[in-house]
Amino acid sequence: MRLGPLIPCELFGRVQISPVQRVIEIDSASNTRRPVPVTASGDVIISADALATIQSQMVIVIACMDEDVQVIEGVLSGIPHDCLVIIVSNSSRSPVDNYGAEVALLEEFCAVTQRAAMIIHQKDPEAAEAFRQAGMPELVSSSGTIHPGKGEAMIIGMALAALTKRKYIGYVDADNFVPGSVNEYCRVFAAGLYAAKSPRAMVRISWNSKPKVRDGRLCFDKRGRSSIVVNEWFNKLLNEYTDDPNSELIVTGNAGEHAMTLELGLKLRLAGGFAIEPYELLNILEQYGKSTSKPSPAATMLPAKAGVPMTAQATPVGPPVPSLARSDSGIVQVLQIETRNPHFHDSSKGEGHVRRMQMQGLNVLYHSPLTPKALRAELAKFMEDQEDLLSGERPPCAQIYPPVGNLDFGVFFDLLTSNSTSFRQFLPESMPMEASLISRL
Ligand code: GDD
Repeated sequence: MRLGPLIPCELFGRVQISPVQRVIEIDSASNTRRPVPVTASGDVIISADALATIQSQMVIVIACMDEDVQVIEGVLSGIPHDCLVIIVSNSSRSPVDNYGAEVALLEEFCAVTQRAAMIIHQKDPEAAEAFRQAGMPELVSSSGTIHPGKGEAMIIGMALAALTKRKYIGYVDADNFVPGSVNEYCRVFAAGLYAAKSPRAMVRISWNSKPKVRDGRLCFDKRGRSSIVVNEWFNKLLNEYTDDPNSELIVTGNAGEHAMTLELGLKLRLAGGFAIEPYELLNILEQYGKSTSKPSPAATMLPAKAGVPMTAQATPVGPPVPSLARSDSGIVQVLQIETRNPHFHDSSKGEGHVRRMQMQGLNVLYHSPLTPKALRAELAKFMEDQEDLLSGERPPCAQIYPPVGNLDFGVFFDLLTSNSTSFRQFLPESMPMEASLISRL
């Protein structure tokens, strides 16, 4: 894969958020024909071998809820063979057992392809109990099951991913209609995580387009309706901390498809529902945005007006990076990468669904300790004008969970593997039947 230049922006304390990079070639020349991974123009070339190395250390989590199994099968077909798949399902079990159909699909897929995968149901009470006893009671509702929500499903996926001891986790929605897009997302995850030098890195996908049908014609809209609004307010927040008042650095505030090193993921506080994606970015800034050189008086605050230009058009700082050797300099890198394929997904969930997603993203921005008072007021006014809030009402707080890395993984593993009724693992024939994809940490 060949990506456009990775422009480092030393912006917010220890957080480097790079302007969007484009995929230039999905399948580029191998390292043999082009020995330097970074070209004179700054393009980054990631060989097939390098991609494969990262993929063999990557877990892909698919959160699903009553998608057509044929669509899920398409998603599975797009995930590179060496990635380990974890499906976290909140699908109905009666009157029609959609979860049973998903288990059967995954079993068949793994048997045919000889690959490994896991599946679990979000409403499994024993899984909930495992989380409760392992130190995350917040995840469990009064009815004794894990709260519904996409964010909650992703947290379950991250806890299981940690038990696999793999290094990377990526998230892909189950309602992706085009397997080739899924394949490109996973390759981009691997390419970005390879290109990132830090062991604490995140790659967020910016879709090339999110097509919609209008008046019988396919329109290749550049951005999703909720994303436009959430990105705009995210940028307003970041602009409070830079000299450029009009930067549009953030294009992936809502990125459903994204990946990160587990080293980073396990340290992040994660939000429930659809707040999860914007809150990941916010929490990175809240935790790592503090300046190490000039600590700000308010411990939570980023160094205001850091003084480094951060426009998407910024020119590379200094010469191209000569090598991609990893260095643990304490930096958290956030890469935003624009893919080539259009993102076709189930867009029939209605305006109310889009507005709810947007609200959940704006709520976490409103409540962040990074958001100055005046911006908070401006945001509340916007939400009132949109009729998402009554005059004078405060936006509701999202459910924010402690880092998954705080779990007692020994307790979690023991309870899950002994008691869970929905958790299933599928192994290739090359592994002994009694083998397990997860183990006590
Ligand atoms: N397990 C589980 N539990 N999965 C869920 C739940 C849940 O409670 N809620 C949603 N999902 C799954 C869906 O089944 C789907 O595969 C995926 O999460 C995305 O949910 P959608 O409801 O289809 O969201 P969307 O496609 O409209 O929005 C996507 O794009 C947004 C950005 O435009 C999502 O990825 C959002 O998170 C993202 O912000």
